[in-house]
Amino acid sequence: MAPGLFITLEGGDGSGKSTQSVLLEGWLVDDGRIVVHSREPGGTELGLELREIILHSRGYIAPRAEALLYAADRAHNVATIVRPSLARGEIVIQDRYLDSSVAYQGAGRVLDAVEVRDLSLWAAEGLLPDLTILLDLDVAAGRARLDADDKVFDRLEAEKDDFHTRVRDSFLALAAAEPERFLVVDATLPVDRIATIIRSRVSTLLAL
Ligand code: TYD
Repeated sequence: MAPGLFITLEGGDGSGKSTQSVLLEGWLVDDGRIVVHSREPGGTELGLELREIILHSRGYIAPRAEALLYAADRAHNVATIVRPSLARGEIVIQDRYLDSSVAYQGAGRVLDAVEVRDLSLWAAEGLLPDLTILLDLDVAAGRARLDADDKVFDRLEAEKDDFHTRVRDSFLALAAAEPERFLVVDATLPVDRIATIIRSRVSTLLAL
């Protein structure tokens, strides 16, 4: 059976991941590919309940509890959606994956990055993406986009700018450490231009 392709999108809040993942999905479907679109947190029924707890429950959640909740969501998503789809040879496009845990719970919440990564890898039974697209945006620009959306901030979005600066720096460091897996794109470029850059990289992967 042809192995599938696992593509994740990462970046700070307001970096345009959802827009680009929808565009990428449309392009691949038009090309006749079978695409499964998932997200973390909340790609499954259980994940939706966990997402509510993680992002919208009132009151304090201890950083290690937060890391475990994201890991639980990831374990269930990988076991029930991602792995079965990849085994069928499908393409999985996913908004956020383990790099978000390393950036937000590791750098943001100041937990040990290696421990957070190991926890995620345990949850996902070692599954790493074939390609991770990092939409890089400076913190002030991300904040301005969120403000323009006029929505109520979730638990992570409500964090201060220094938290989001640590998150951004961590994403960039992760990308620098694994240049073959990551494609870093300037999120201030026009939407069409970003989509073209992403397509070009995905085309190369599909041709392999
Ligand atoms: P997301 O669904 O991208 O937010 P939205 O749809 O509101 O733009 O992600 C929700 C939040 O969860 C986001 O602030 C990042 C955070 N997050 C973590 O802190 N750790 C993780 O492992 C993941 C997957 C997300």
